[in-house]
Amino acid sequence: MPQVDQDGRLRHLLTLDGLSPATLTALLDRAQAMLDGIDDRSTLEGVAVCTLFFEPSTRTRLSFQRAAQRLGADVLGFDASTSSTTKGETALDTLRNIEAMGVRGFVVRHAHDGAVAELAASAAPGTALLNAGDGRSAHPTQGLLDMLTLRQAKGMDFRELKVLIVGDVRHSRVARSDLHALRALGAGEIRVCGPAALLPEDDTLAGCIVTQDFEAALEHVDAVMMLRLQRERMTEGLVDSLEDYHRDYGLTPQRLRRAAPDAVVLHPGPMNRGVEIDDAVADGPQSLILRQVRNGVAVRMAVLEALMGRGGS
Ligand code: CP
Repeated sequence: MPQVDQDGRLRHLLTLDGLSPATLTALLDRAQAMLDGIDDRSTLEGVAVCTLFFEPSTRTRLSFQRAAQRLGADVLGFDASTSSTTKGETALDTLRNIEAMGVRGFVVRHAHDGAVAELAASAAPGTALLNAGDGRSAHPTQGLLDMLTLRQAKGMDFRELKVLIVGDVRHSRVARSDLHALRALGAGEIRVCGPAALLPEDDTLAGCIVTQDFEAALEHVDAVMMLRLQRERMTEGLVDSLEDYHRDYGLTPQRLRRAAPDAVVLHPGPMNRGVEIDDAVADGPQSLILRQVRNGVAVRMAVLEALMGRGGS
């Protein structure tokens, strides 16, 4: 499903993969302007947006809702657990029924890879689909907000930047979107670290420096992007125990000293405190974790405006 039309205009946001550096930069610039106070509550006036989440969420759902409200949209929340999907209604029938109510924008989270693109392919002309996380494929607005956070901390030029991504990369849609964006924006060095069972075997890590040695990976990096350990990986036998994981891959203040003195720490949330990250790091001076959340509202405003605002991107 193409997300960009023949005129180069963004019709849906399904993935950051394939988006040009110019498109990414324009969205980030606009998000920064939103943060600096330039927003227009009439941009989405009269437009209805539905947050259609088939998986749990705190940050993504609420920040999309906040972003849409700040642009003047009517926002409809959909709770899968109390919806007619519990009676067997499909995601596509759900979308079509809500479309029939006059809703033009759908922010969708779904457990299956490609689910949002499939919905986009069947949506009515003029309906915009925004991927809020599908399977392990993509979480494009998380990737954008991470780039905005890095840009604010380290400057716009990523060519000298050494970035380390740590943890369950194999199952992480956040890592995939971050990798797409970091490559497009020209990050100087991308390191990836985690236990072998949690590293992808396909070409996801092409061009990255890959290691299982966390101490070595941390040396002199400018940014450490921690990933959530998905606890179900223990029941799948991919991780021995939470204690072992913390011993080998938990970010402690002692370990963080190996990074550059002004290194920053990111985590998409929700965090497993004491597992992949210690309290002293999560709440410490190098943590940008709540800045990421704040930036998420601005990024989602920029994306909603580009897709659905008057005049579009
Ligand atoms: N970062 C992120 O996607 O968080 P939520 O699952 O709470 O939306």
